[in-house]
Amino acid sequence: MLQSFDLYFVSSNKHKYEEAKKILKSFGIHLGFCKFELEEIQSDSLKEIASNKAIDAFQKFKKPVIVEDDGLFIDSLDGFPGPYSSYVFKTIGNKGILDLLTQNRKAKFVSIVSFYDKHSSKSFVAKVHGKISKTQKGIGWGYDPIFIPEDSKKTFAESTNKNELSHRYKALKKFANWYLHEQK
Ligand code: IMP
Repeated sequence: MLQSFDLYFVSSNKHKYEEAKKILKSFGIHLGFCKFELEEIQSDSLKEIASNKAIDAFQKFKKPVIVEDDGLFIDSLDGFPGPYSSYVFKTIGNKGILDLLTQNRKAKFVSIVSFYDKHSSKSFVAKVHGKISKTQKGIGWGYDPIFIPEDSKKTFAESTNKNELSHRYKALKKFANWYLHEQK
């Protein structure tokens, strides 16, 4: 029989779910997965995108859900690709990003985790500052081979502790603190 969960992660991205599952497990929260591509509204605001997706996901699956939206914001490109990170990854990819950069390589990853159920709608935002590497390093998904978090010499793809310092970890930690308090 399929296991049932109190909380589901709705996304088409299995990598995000695998990371979220491990992170929330460390807070004692067991996370189910609904693999589904939710429609995205056109907006410059990651928070607006994520909270709309959470409402959609709840209406579809009728379960308490979280969704997560991320963006890579590069300083010298005025925050590009930001909310368009997914499209940019699919089109120019990591090589395209590397080709655009010269001197200033500062960047940040932002994560928004939005929760929705019958009673509450809540979003949690977190960021991790860092820089874009000069070449792709390590085997990883998405922008992991080109993002080096602050105070590290390794890209997310090379590091062994991404789940202890990432944007996703920080946003999910905020969510977990709120969720566990709500459940009492
Ligand atoms: P979205 O939230 O799935 O739209 O993510 C935006 C883009 O950022 C996608 O191309 C993802 O693959 C990428 N992305 C999101 N989180 C991460 C991460 O933790 N590492 C690497 N790439 C990521």
